[in-house]
Amino acid sequence: MRGAVATRVTGPDRPPTEPENRTMSQSYAAEEGAPAAVPVEAPHGAGDPVLSIRDLEVEFPTPLGVVRALNGVTFDVPRGKVLGIVGESGCGKSVTARAILQIVEKPGRITGGSITLRGVGGETEITGLNPDSAPMRELRGREIAMIFQEPMSSLNPVYTIGAQIAEAVLIHQTRNREEAHKRAVEMLRQVGMPHPEAAAASYPHQLSGGMRQRAMIAMALSCNPTVLIADEPTTALDVTTEAQILELIRNVRDRAGMSIMFITHSMGVVAQLCDEVIVMYLGRIVERGSVDDLFYDPKHPYTRALLRSIPRIGANRKAPLEVIEGSVPDPHARVAGCPFHPRCPEAIPGRCDTTVPDLSTAGPGHTVHCHLYPGDDEASQSEPGKDA
Ligand SMILES: Nc1ncnc2c1ncn2[C@@H]1O[C@H](COP(=O)(O)OP(=O)(O)OP(=O)(O)O)[C@@H](O)[C@H]1O
Ligand code: SF4
Ligand SMILES: [Mg+2]
Repeated sequence: MRGAVATRVTGPDRPPTEPENRTMSQSYAAEEGAPAAVPVEAPHGAGDPVLSIRDLEVEFPTPLGVVRALNGVTFDVPRGKVLGIVGESGCGKSVTARAILQIVEKPGRITGGSITLRGVGGETEITGLNPDSAPMRELRGREIAMIFQEPMSSLNPVYTIGAQIAEAVLIHQTRNREEAHKRAVEMLRQVGMPHPEAAAASYPHQLSGGMRQRAMIAMALSCNPTVLIADEPTTALDVTTEAQILELIRNVRDRAGMSIMFITHSMGVVAQLCDEVIVMYLGRIVERGSVDDLFYDPKHPYTRALLRSIPRIGANRKAPLEVIEGSVPDPHARVAGCPFHPRCPEAIPGRCDTTVPDLSTAGPGHTVHCHLYPGDDEASQSEPGKDA
C-alpha cells in the first residue's frame, strides 16, 4: 500500500501554519494589496479542540422502520487543522456534518449526545439550541460554514453570485450594502475567481462547475467562520479543478489557521490534504489517527481493506483490483456486535458478532474499535497492581 498514495502524503514540506488565533481576515490583510480586514475576536481557547462531538446519535423514522444513521459518534475537530472523514456511501459522513449545523433532514433528528463548539463567541452546546432559534442561525455561517458537493443545490438560481455572498456578509458582518458588495468581490478574488467583478454580476448557471464551487467557498469564507465543513466539494469536478480547490482549502488552513472538516471518498485527497483522519462505518467511527498512522500503520480491517482497494501506479494491470467483499448492510438492519463483522475476513466468531468493540489506543492520537486489539479498559485492568 505504500505506493502512489502513500508517497503523496504531505508532511514536513508543508508551509508552516500561522499562529492558530490568527483570523482569516487578519491573515489576508497581511498580504500585499489585500483590503483592510474586518476585525474579529481571537478564537476561544486556542489549544482546545474547536468542536467536541460526544456519543452523537441521529435517527430517521421511515415507513420501513427507524434508520439509525449515527450510533454514538465521538470525535474532536482539532483547531487549525484539516480533519478528513472517509467511509463508504451511507456510513454517516453527511449526517454527521448536518447534525453539527442542526440541519438534519426532517423527520430525522438528533436523539442523543452532545456537540460542543469553542468558537469566537465562547463555548456553545449546539444540541442545547433550538435548530430554528436566532442563536443557531447566527452560529451558521458566522462560526461554522458548510460547502456542499453540488453548489447548484445551495446557490439560489435567481440571484447573482455577488448578491448571495453580500447577503451572507449583511447577515453577519455589516449593515452597509456597498461594503458587503465590495467584500463579496474581494472574497471572489481571494478564492482565485477569474474576473471577480464579472463573476459577482453573474447568475449561478452562467458559471462553470469549478467557478460555482469557488463561489460557494467564497460565500462560506466570507464571514471568517471558525470551522469550515466541506462535504465532498470536489467529487463532481475534473482533476485539474479539484487540485486547484484542494490548494485553496490548504491555503485557508495555512494562512488563516481555520479548522476544517473535509468529507471525502478519496483516500488520495486525504493523503494530499488532511492532517488527521476518521474512518466511519455504518454510523460509527472505527479508526482515527494521523494521516501517517492510517496510511502506514492501519489497524482496523475495514481501513486496511479501503486502502487495498485503491488502484496503485506500477501495480500489475492485469490483476483485478481488490474489493471489499459484501456491501454495506441495509440501513434499517441492526447489526449486532461489530458493524463490520459480516464482511470482515478476521472476524472472531462468538465475539465480533455479539459484542461492540471498545476503544483501543494504538498510539498517540491513534485509536481503533476492533476486538483484535485489547480495549483500553481491559488493558488498564490487566496492568500489574490494578484490580481485575
Ligand atoms: N433523509 C433521510 N431519510 C432516511 N434516511 C436517511 C436520510 N438521510 C440519510 N439517511 C440515512 O443515513 C445514513 C447515512 O447517510 P449519509 O448521507 O450521512 O451517508 P454518507 O456517508 O454521507 O454517504 P455518501 O458517501 O453517499 O454521501 C444512510 O443509511 C442513509 O440512508
Ligand atoms: S471487531 Fe472483529 S469483525 Fe470487527 S473489524 Fe475487528 S476483527 Fe473484524
Ligand atoms: Mg454524503
